[in-house]
Amino acid sequence: MTDDAPDAQRRRLLIATTSAVGGLGLVAGSVPFVCALRPSRSAEVAAAPVEVDLQALREGEQLTVQWRGQPVCVLRRSAADQAQLLTDEAGLADPLSKESLQPPYVDPRLRSRRPDIFVVTAICTHLGCIPSLDTATTNQGYLCPCHGSRFDLAGRVYRDQPAPLNLAVPPYHFKGENLVVIGSDGEGIT
Ligand code: FES
Repeated sequence: MTDDAPDAQRRRLLIATTSAVGGLGLVAGSVPFVCALRPSRSAEVAAAPVEVDLQALREGEQLTVQWRGQPVCVLRRSAADQAQLLTDEAGLADPLSKESLQPPYVDPRLRSRRPDIFVVTAICTHLGCIPSLDTATTNQGYLCPCHGSRFDLAGRVYRDQPAPLNLAVPPYHFKGENLVVIGSDGEGIT
């Protein structure tokens, strides 16, 4: 037994040393990996919230900005537009927006925080084309140029269209009466 004691001590020392070196290796190996997971500067800029000045935006007009590489439209709806959205719902596939992507704080029918200002991601939910504002017909709304999907002025898709869902609404909030911040809901979540 006494002859084995130094060997046992040596074994314990070797195990301890190996574990320590292994741990250092793991830390050293992890640092570049963690660094590689950090978003690039350009990705951070692209994901940053975008401010849109509403002062010059008149009823029926919309501005389009880029956020996270996607077009986001900001439309000023008239009182008549708002009333029509709340009464002309019979032909819609999902009038209460139960299936669509939108922040919880927007009204499910007008799909906005404020009835007059509508913010929407202009990416068709069929195959990703960019719908545009269609004011040429009495049934005003958005029209997708690729396969003809129609949406109302709240981005709600009509029935029997190629697009399966309403247009998505991104997170946003207002800073005063005439400034909307797209990409942030105003509570620190982007
Ligand atoms: S991509 Fe819009 S209808 Fe097909």
